[in-house]
Amino acid sequence: MDTMVEFRGINRYYPSTAVQANDHVSFSVKAGEVHAICGENGAGKSTLMNILFGLEKPDSGEILINDRPVAFKSPSDAIANGIGMVHQHFKTVNSFTVTENILLGIEKNRYGFLNHKEEIAFVKELQKKYGLPINPSAVAGSLPVGLLQRLEILKMLAREISILILDEPTAVLTPQEVKPFLETLRQLTKRGVTIFFISHKLQEVLEVADRITVMKKGKVVATRNAEETNAKDLAEMMVGREIVFRINKTAARPGEPVLEVQGLTVKNRLGVKALKDISFTLRAGEILGIAGVSGNGQDALVSGIAGLMPVSEGKIRLKGEDITGLDVRGRRLRGLAHVPEDRIHMGLNPAATIAENTMLGFQRKSEFRKGIMINTSACNAWAEKIIADYSVYGAAAGGPVAKLSGGNMQKIVLGREVSSNPVLLVVNQPTRGLDVGSIEFVHQMLLDHRDRGVAILLVSVELEEIIALSDRVEVLLGGSFQGELTGDEINEKNIGLLMTRGQYREP
Ligand SMILES: Nc1ncnc2c1ncn2[C@@H]1O[C@H](COP(=O)(O)OP(=O)(O)OP(=O)(O)O)[C@@H](O)[C@H]1O
Ligand SMILES: [Mg+2]
Repeated sequence: MDTMVEFRGINRYYPSTAVQANDHVSFSVKAGEVHAICGENGAGKSTLMNILFGLEKPDSGEILINDRPVAFKSPSDAIANGIGMVHQHFKTVNSFTVTENILLGIEKNRYGFLNHKEEIAFVKELQKKYGLPINPSAVAGSLPVGLLQRLEILKMLAREISILILDEPTAVLTPQEVKPFLETLRQLTKRGVTIFFISHKLQEVLEVADRITVMKKGKVVATRNAEETNAKDLAEMMVGREIVFRINKTAARPGEPVLEVQGLTVKNRLGVKALKDISFTLRAGEILGIAGVSGNGQDALVSGIAGLMPVSEGKIRLKGEDITGLDVRGRRLRGLAHVPEDRIHMGLNPAATIAENTMLGFQRKSEFRKGIMINTSACNAWAEKIIADYSVYGAAAGGPVAKLSGGNMQKIVLGREVSSNPVLLVVNQPTRGLDVGSIEFVHQMLLDHRDRGVAILLVSVELEEIIALSDRVEVLLGGSFQGELTGDEINEKNIGLLMTRGQYREP
């Protein structure tokens, strides 16, 4: 295969964070291959892709495409030269339809459509060509993430790109959506598209990629053929130490009831009951895992408990006290911590510093105050502790949170919530976007908190995570629990059956 893209000595230093995000990066990518890039949070993967896509400029170094040096001034320049990118965080216009989004900016000049009918026909043709079906008239804002992503990819393909950059495309997909998605990528390469694939999930990397380049602290560690490596090797190259992929869990010793939920019903924005008459008790020192295909009431459950969505029926008690009528702040003050699924938008203030973000919602705590003033040194010390505990690479307490890499932003939210000394910790997809070493750390830390008596409600679409951590498992399907699993019943087969069909259970 011919070389399609070659990076030669790419350097990029960020003065504002004092990070050498790309450090003499050199490797090449062959035409028509899926080339994965792996590395810890902050290793420089997104930076390199942003440079290729014309979003960032390197300080030095060259990129060659088909042996010709290129330097794109902007994403539109990159797109005009056949390079498309789907970002970690989508840029869809929610109020537009699928067709409008796909054709945004190219509707007239490039294809000269006469009317809406032709536009729809074009989008249908595009879908057929690449095998990516989606309703052309659907409003983007109403689509689940899996379809939004398909839309983003179609948007790029409509621009006749030959190189597609996918920055953590599977992080937003459910495990059920991942397989067909990887299949789609293989199909695209058969149509001549060269794909950059960034992911922290080593199994899927090994499954879909032809070759894998590992980065660490801005540098290339190695490029390997997928057949000649495995998850353990990759993890060790990324992290620089052995990763065991399995954690030791002792039996839980449940104490007093912490969270008592009775007949909880929550309606979504459209007034439909997303959660129907749910009841359970969660005790101190245990982890209750909530499994299920996303979109089966998880958001309503978490939002109802955290106080982000109104409860239409039922009661929520925290340590015996009825908190159903309390707002978010009232619940936080009583020891409820919450790591939301959408951390970047709901968990962080992007305009603030890391230190400000690590005390968001806790500003009134006495240890952060000196009279009516903020105790800056106490706040900075607190932030530095979270940065150290969670290995938030390239972070300083006074630095802007918005400049952190995706995974490192998530660590800030996790660190803040978990370290707030909660009685109840509600975590929604806690390890999404984290590298393998960080996942291992977070899992161990959740278990440590459990053993110190924290009650943990774990919502995750990752079966492995649910199985590794939960003492009890409830499966959500259509807004209802399908039956509780405990002890040895907690396995992939039983959860899978309840997730899809309900009721049937094997010991
Ligand atoms: N615009 C910026 N200004 C300052 N520093 C930045 C900027 N963008 C990235 N960085 C820093 O560069 C380093 C590399 O970030 P990058 O986003 O490339 O990492 P990544 O490998 O994509 O990580 P993740 O897996 O968490 O997405 C990080 O330390 C980050 O804080
Ligand atoms: Mg990234």
